[in-house]
Amino acid sequence: MSTSQQQIPLQLVGRINQLAAQAPLPSPLSAEDKQQLKERIKLLLKQRNAQIVAHYYVDAELQALAEETGGIVADSLEMANFGAQSNADMLVVCGVRFMGETAKMLSPEKVVLMPDLNATCSLDVGCPADEFAAFCAHHPDHTVVVYANTSVEVKAIADWVVTSGNALQIVRHLKAQGEKIIWAPDQHLGHWIEKETGIEMLRWMGHCIVHDEFKAFELEQLKREHPDAKVLVHPESAESVVALADVVGSTKVLINAVQTLPDQKFIVATDHGIFYKMRQLAPHKKLIVAPTDSKTTQCISCAHCPWMAMNGLQNLADVLEKCDQRIEIDEAIRVKALRSVERMLDFSRAQGLVKVK
Ligand code: 13P
Ligand code: SF4
Repeated sequence: MSTSQQQIPLQLVGRINQLAAQAPLPSPLSAEDKQQLKERIKLLLKQRNAQIVAHYYVDAELQALAEETGGIVADSLEMANFGAQSNADMLVVCGVRFMGETAKMLSPEKVVLMPDLNATCSLDVGCPADEFAAFCAHHPDHTVVVYANTSVEVKAIADWVVTSGNALQIVRHLKAQGEKIIWAPDQHLGHWIEKETGIEMLRWMGHCIVHDEFKAFELEQLKREHPDAKVLVHPESAESVVALADVVGSTKVLINAVQTLPDQKFIVATDHGIFYKMRQLAPHKKLIVAPTDSKTTQCISCAHCPWMAMNGLQNLADVLEKCDQRIEIDEAIRVKALRSVERMLDFSRAQGLVKVK
């Protein structure tokens, strides 16, 4: 093992797999129940002056509802930016916990709800704040850059927060200033950035259980079967999968590729929740999920994040009714964590990477 990498203990990997296996899926609903729930949600959003802030990986009906009611469907960078600039009194974040925490960090005056506060992320669980703080303490001369998919406590240790929508630009900026970097927690995204920028970073070796499952050998075979397809890969995927990509980037970049490239067929290596937006923007193009099974192993998450899947119409309606699943953050930690998040947003706005209201 290279000294520039910090492996996570096997025990933690076991806990991540257990949490993923136990993530509860919303119960199936009849068409009539769905319709009633949607009407109730719309009414409650108005009554509470609330907006839905949804990620591209959640259920298609939640994405549609967010758009229909003046909320947003976006990548994690634009979700943070939208929440911070919103005039609503309440935000309902349909995604995973770190997205809710970022929204609350940026808007402490707003009530921030989530349909299920237990919707976590393997990258967040795989980077406990105390262990990460100890790692950073060994390298005090390094700038600490953490992915948005981390807890508020980890963000409070960081100098910069990044998302896959701005990580390359921010690391290039830091490299130009001669900074040495600690990167956490996604090992593959970190490695991709190293290759793209030519910098070597001290990397925390966390992983996304969804993107880690895409298989290079099977993807190569699929490419051969569809020589006319372009391959789109999220950089949380392994290096061998990224190497087969025509386009590598954040969810927003991959959606943009489907919409703007002249090609008619795409093999997509990311959560298939993204197909809702891709189909909306390019209804006639053919989308194929990249392979997650191999001859020897079967997929567990199978190209769909078990924690994103916890968001449903029923728990969204319930949380708007009861306002009980609230994100609360200790004020001292929030203030510390805010520095690195605001630094990211200021940089992204200045570079035109997100909209400025
Ligand atoms: P994006 O920031 O690209 O939307 O990615 C977030 C995420 O969790 C991907 O797995
Ligand atoms: Fe985390 Fe992966 Fe789920 Fe994204 S898809 S929220 S990185 S576990």
